[in-house]
Amino acid sequence: MTLRIAPSILSADFAALGEAIAAAERGGADLLHVDVMDGHFVPNITVGPPVVRAIKRVAHVPLDVHLMISDPDRYIESFADAGASMISVHVEALPHLHRTVTFIKSLGIEAGVVLNPSTSVVSLEEIAPEVDFVLVMSVNPGFGGQAFIPRSESKVRAVRELLDRTGSAAPVEVDGGVDLHNVGRLVAAGVEIVVAGNAIFGTPDPEDATRRLKAAALAALRLEELKS
Ligand code: DX5
Ligand code: ZN
Repeated sequence: MTLRIAPSILSADFAALGEAIAAAERGGADLLHVDVMDGHFVPNITVGPPVVRAIKRVAHVPLDVHLMISDPDRYIESFADAGASMISVHVEALPHLHRTVTFIKSLGIEAGVVLNPSTSVVSLEEIAPEVDFVLVMSVNPGFGGQAFIPRSESKVRAVRELLDRTGSAAPVEVDGGVDLHNVGRLVAAGVEIVVAGNAIFGTPDPEDATRRLKAAALAALRLEELKS
C-alpha cells in the first residue's frame, strides 16, 4: 500500500491560492485535489479549466480533478488539456460510465469513479477492473467543512474488498470530513488517497496541518503493515 495526501483547495483562500498550494506542498502534499462544481449536479459552483491551468503552472505535484458536474463528458478534454493527471467522475452522473472511463484513460489520464454516500458499492461491480482509482464520498458533495458520515468507513472496506475480488489494485480515495481523528481508521479500512480541505486550509497553519495529517495516516499504515 502507498499513501497519498491530497489537500482540497476548496477550503483555501482563492485570493492567495499560490501560497496555499506552496504551504500544502511544503507540508508533504502528494497531490492537489481540485473540486469542480457546476451548480447543477451539486448545489454549489466552483472552478473550471482556466483555474486548473493556473494551478498547474505553480503546482509541483499532480492534480487530482474531481468533477461534480452534469454531463462531464463535455468537459473531460478541457480538464485534461488544463493539466489534470487524475480525473474522477460520479457514477450517478453517467449512463455510459464505461465509455467515459475508457475515454479518460485514452487521454493518458488516471480515471477514477466516485460514489455518493447513498450509492451502493454494487454499482462498481462491472467497472471495477477498468478504473485506476475509486473515490468514496464521505459527505454529500457540494461543500467543504461538512461532518464525516460514519458509515463511510465500512463502505471503504467494502470497496476495497470488491476491488481485491476483481483483481484490481486500484487505490481507494476518501473525500469529505476527513481529519486527524478519523484518518487512522480510514487508512486501516483501506484508504490510500486521503482528501482533506477544512482540516488543512481551515487551520491557521496549512503546512503543519498537512504534515500532521500525513504523519497520522502513515502511522496507521505502519500499524496495518505490522498486523499483516
Ligand atoms: C466536497 C468536496 C471535497 C471537499 C472536502 O464536495 O468534494 O473535496 O473539499 O472538504 P472537507 O475536507 O472540508 O470536507
Ligand atoms: Zn472532492
